[in-house]
Amino acid sequence: MALLETHGLTKSFGGLVAVDDVDLEIERGESVAVIGPNGAGKSTFINLVTRMLDATAGDIEFKGESIASDDPHEVVQKGVSRSFQTASIFPELSVEENAQIAALAAEHGSFRFNFLRHRDNYGGVERLASRTLDAVDLLDQRGVTAEDLPYGDKRRLELGIALASDPDLLLMDEPTAGMSPEETADTVDLVERVKAEMGLTILLVEHDMEVVFDVADRIVVLHRGAVIAEGSPEAVQGDPDVQEAYLGGVEA
Ligand SMILES: Nc1ncnc2c1ncn2[C@@H]1O[C@H](COP(=O)(O)OP(=O)(O)OP(=O)(O)O)[C@@H](O)[C@H]1O
Ligand SMILES: [Mg+2]
Repeated sequence: MALLETHGLTKSFGGLVAVDDVDLEIERGESVAVIGPNGAGKSTFINLVTRMLDATAGDIEFKGESIASDDPHEVVQKGVSRSFQTASIFPELSVEENAQIAALAAEHGSFRFNFLRHRDNYGGVERLASRTLDAVDLLDQRGVTAEDLPYGDKRRLELGIALASDPDLLLMDEPTAGMSPEETADTVDLVERVKAEMGLTILLVEHDMEVVFDVADRIVVLHRGAVIAEGSPEAVQGDPDVQEAYLGGVEA
């Protein structure tokens, strides 16, 4: 059984089919990149998996169970997390408080799932928050007010917040957007490291092909909502359908 499976997943906005009959499987431990031109349906796909949007048709299974009618917080509690944009940070709180709130939010109501892992509920939250800050290299800055962090550290805190729920599957939508080449390289290193340390499975949406090649074991190409190619980075790069989708039929 794959960790995540979608079956015929479809989302229409009025007459526009943003995600079109997508069957996707992600095995535990894999890093999968979803790529495709602007408007291909990548963010919509992530929003369907995290249950921020209702699908028009199809099913989503996580650990073998349908999550297609779950609330977003239930999906987080089951182990799916998404690296949000800066909006997820509470600017006036410290780095540590931000991580603790994220861990607490994930823990809340999930006592039954985590009963054996965290006997002492609040201690569990504190431990999870510290472990997460350690993983993203922010333990030394834990007392700093979040808004005073430099840009790169803020992005690291966002990742830390996403990891504070101790997810199995981490979804990232363009994590290096707006970053300098140096910050991008640091982010790739960080993602690789937390993946290994926390045993994560990763679904990455990314335009920067260098990042995709560094992180992904497998690439899925979306075009107008549908999967048009899938395979190793090398295979996908050489696929004529993919080149056609990106060039829009125009000779380069
Ligand atoms: N809430 C919405 N209401 C109506 N149409 C939407 C909505 N969200 C997305 N769309 C449309 O669905 C299509 C897919 O959008 P989506 O944001 O998923 O693309 P994307 O692949 O993430 O693009 P980008 O690379 O630019 O981020 C686009 O045509 C977009 O305009
Ligand atoms: Mg998008």
